[in-house]
Amino acid sequence: MVWKKVTEKNTIAANSGKEFDVDGKKIAIFNQDGYHALDGICVHQDNPIAAGKLDGDIVECPSHFWHYNIKTGELQDYLKGVKLQTYTVEERNDGIYIDL
Ligand code: FES
Repeated sequence: MVWKKVTEKNTIAANSGKEFDVDGKKIAIFNQDGYHALDGICVHQDNPIAAGKLDGDIVECPSHFWHYNIKTGELQDYLKGVKLQTYTVEERNDGIYIDL
């Protein structure tokens, strides 16, 4: 358990996501009903998901429209039992941190 500061506060607009490079990993953080962090690369063809359209807890990969739950990382279509890793997020006074 290693907390890493990812960004300053107020850098991720409400109801949207942003990709960050954290220790060489692409992490997507969504600001939707709190902050949610998960691996930012789609399992389909390794494209980034952070800019995908959000509908409630579900983000749609912009490339070919696979869907993931941003709170659990679970893929919603095509393949059962596939999950992106999720990370605990904390908003602190000096920024947004995730537990890598
Ligand atoms: S890369 Fe995400 S759906 Fe194809």
